[in-house]
Amino acid sequence: MATTRKELENLAPGEARSRGKQIQELLDEETVEVPWQLRHSEYTYLGSEPLDRDHYISQEWCDKEIENMWSRIWQLACFEQDIPEVGDHIVYDIVDWSFIIVRTEPDTIRGFYNSCLHRGRRLCENEAESANKPEFRCPFHGITWNIDGSLKTIPPSIDFDFPHVDVEKFGLPEVRCEIWDGFVFINMDDDAEPLMDFLGDITKHFERWPFATRWKATHTAKIVNSNWKLAQEAFMEAFHVLATHPQMSIGLLGGDGSNTEYNIYDGGDANWSRMTMAPPMPNPNLPYELTEEELMEEMFFRGESVSEMGVQKMEGSVEDLPEGTTTRKLLADTARPNANGYVGLPPTDVELTSAIQYHIFPNISPWPGPIFYRHRPYGRDPDKCVMEIMMMVALPEGAERPPAAKIRWLGEDEHFGSIFNQDVENVAQVQRGLKAAKPPGGLTLGNYQDIKVRWHHRLLEKWVNREI
Ligand code: FES
Ligand SMILES: [Fe+2]
Repeated sequence: MATTRKELENLAPGEARSRGKQIQELLDEETVEVPWQLRHSEYTYLGSEPLDRDHYISQEWCDKEIENMWSRIWQLACFEQDIPEVGDHIVYDIVDWSFIIVRTEPDTIRGFYNSCLHRGRRLCENEAESANKPEFRCPFHGITWNIDGSLKTIPPSIDFDFPHVDVEKFGLPEVRCEIWDGFVFINMDDDAEPLMDFLGDITKHFERWPFATRWKATHTAKIVNSNWKLAQEAFMEAFHVLATHPQMSIGLLGGDGSNTEYNIYDGGDANWSRMTMAPPMPNPNLPYELTEEELMEEMFFRGESVSEMGVQKMEGSVEDLPEGTTTRKLLADTARPNANGYVGLPPTDVELTSAIQYHIFPNISPWPGPIFYRHRPYGRDPDKCVMEIMMMVALPEGAERPPAAKIRWLGEDEHFGSIFNQDVENVAQVQRGLKAAKPPGGLTLGNYQDIKVRWHHRLLEKWVNREI
């Protein structure tokens, strides 16, 4: 592995990797068969050009994103389990638009523009509420639609004034709505490609860790003081861990983050990407020398810094462990008996001990593990966004799924948790720092570890410039 600038000269841009074991080398050490998804590892160098900071701070850019991307792209509106019964519906707001997503029949979910055809009032008010109603009655003058969008009634007291309304054609305008693996997507573009074509091969990857049977156990949202892309990009690379989350550098969630594998697919044209954070191991990039024994001692026997992360303390000492035992092996063996949601082969150590995070363009991040993110613009304000974290729990086979959690909005002084709060505070400072830069102020990205950020902006530019 390259360690000096001199050695780097012999490598093509993007070829250099952090010191220490790479994810694919860890997979070579597995004692069970490795699913093909983990071996599907692609990276393409996409250049080292500076990234335009206008993408984050310019109102003009923000407006173009809305006009040219958000109005035409597949986006997650809700989960099927949010609206399990006929008549259940949920409101999805994006920028100035609002949609009612409703289960009209046991196997049919449809979406409608959340706007009355009389004088335009929002028909359903509250995004945080999902509710079961046999109809959509406008609170302004009482015109009412059936859950399938057809007109139910114009109140008799006002009906005389609408002779020009063809009641057969006065249905609520519909938005395209398609489902993949329990996710309900919408698209305002009637000519858009089918959802499954848009998603591509990620659908095959998640045959291993299906979502449709998981349980949405928690769902929290917060208005964050940064552009939606900045907040999302806090989860598109892991090498900020050492500086931003020093308490994690020896922790369960992946060492110092520097041996993370980054994947973009189809030369960066696929609408999805992935990163896999390495499990805890004696990483040569840590600012201190650490042996496997010292790490195990810290994690399992002394455990002060990690007990809060759910590692079970063990009796005895490191000397009692069989020769060749590693931290990640021990962690995997502890997690294996309670591991659910793996289809096909038994779970590998890497799956049980790494944070594997996928991203689907433009704004969701499904994990094989339980964490799930969505980031949305907050109205038309480039300086704010809505950040959502959900826990999508795989249940034991045969277990009954409890009702899905409803969205809970955190107030200004409430936090997702200490690690997430470090990210939230950080991105607010990035947003301000970007504005403080001397013009033109381009951003200098890492060739490998920032590849998902570059991938995201490359696709975004194509949408905004209408090349897609
Ligand atoms: S605005 Fe909805 S009934 Fe008048
Ligand atoms: Fe972070």
